[in-house]
Amino acid sequence: MASTSQIENGSNLTKWGILGAGAMGWLWTYYLQRAKIDTLLLQRQNTSYRECIIQKDNIFENCRTSAMKSDNPSLPTIEALIVSTKAYSVRSALLPIQEGLISKQTPIILLQNGLGVFEEVRELFPKQPILILSTSNGAYWQESELLKITGSGSSYLGTLDNSVPKPLKNILFNRLKATGLPILLTDNILKKLWEKLLVNCSINSISALWLCRNGDLLDNPNSKEIWKRIVLEGVEVMRQELHQEVEPSEILSLIDQVAYKTSANYSSMCEDRRKNRPNEVDYILGYVVRKAYQQHLSVPTLETLADLLKFPENSS
Ligand code: PAF
Repeated sequence: MASTSQIENGSNLTKWGILGAGAMGWLWTYYLQRAKIDTLLLQRQNTSYRECIIQKDNIFENCRTSAMKSDNPSLPTIEALIVSTKAYSVRSALLPIQEGLISKQTPIILLQNGLGVFEEVRELFPKQPILILSTSNGAYWQESELLKITGSGSSYLGTLDNSVPKPLKNILFNRLKATGLPILLTDNILKKLWEKLLVNCSINSISALWLCRNGDLLDNPNSKEIWKRIVLEGVEVMRQELHQEVEPSEILSLIDQVAYKTSANYSSMCEDRRKNRPNEVDYILGYVVRKAYQQHLSVPTLETLADLLKFPENSS
């Protein structure tokens, strides 16, 4: 692992790896480069660099990064690895580079929607520093190489165990902060993850079923009514998991805020459906339903939505 002093000296270690060339992988590639951090994109293609165009407001910028095939075990030294692949492919994407990451104790930063990925990654990397970056930034592919950044929500960085020494956590946080994106370091990332989980349960499920943009769900009495039911059921589970009070009205206003800030966006689950890909239902609604069973709570709305979103491609 890169030592704190090496990192502080700015020696040649300010290269970050990004695993996964989806919308979120490119969004962070673009912002890290703006913070003068060199990037290496680990992707399916066997090319040494990749380019795409980033559209933000009405400005178009070319983003170019060095790249390598993600199953190449000879990973160069990187300061940290952001894992941006879909929740269901994290395990298989990390396996080919597992040895290299363990030998260098490279910090792993997980960016997935939903919950449950951390446990899978911890099993593969028992002693690795693992952080979670929870963000509600919006971006979608306008065309195949044109990424439209639609909203910069808040991001939170934290850990779910004590695998990351505080100085290292601070260094990684400062790097991410240098991107200019609003980001906070939190001691209670689990609460943030649950909040986002209920946001995703609400926005992603309905937008995927209706095949609409996030903003189309605002001012719609039907989606508002379903969101209310989702939140009332989800909050009960969240309360028991976190052992703390949670106000349904706060979660509902968070859902409104995220839908508003990302109103031009197609949610990730909607995109998955539009492109006929598997979706993350097992890590989003499915996760809450599993927790509810364990707690003997009834969550009929969440259960029905989870069943509806298990499209045939998910069970293959
Ligand atoms: O999954 C998504 O699409 C995103 O998490 C969010 C914040 C709902 C924006 O679309």
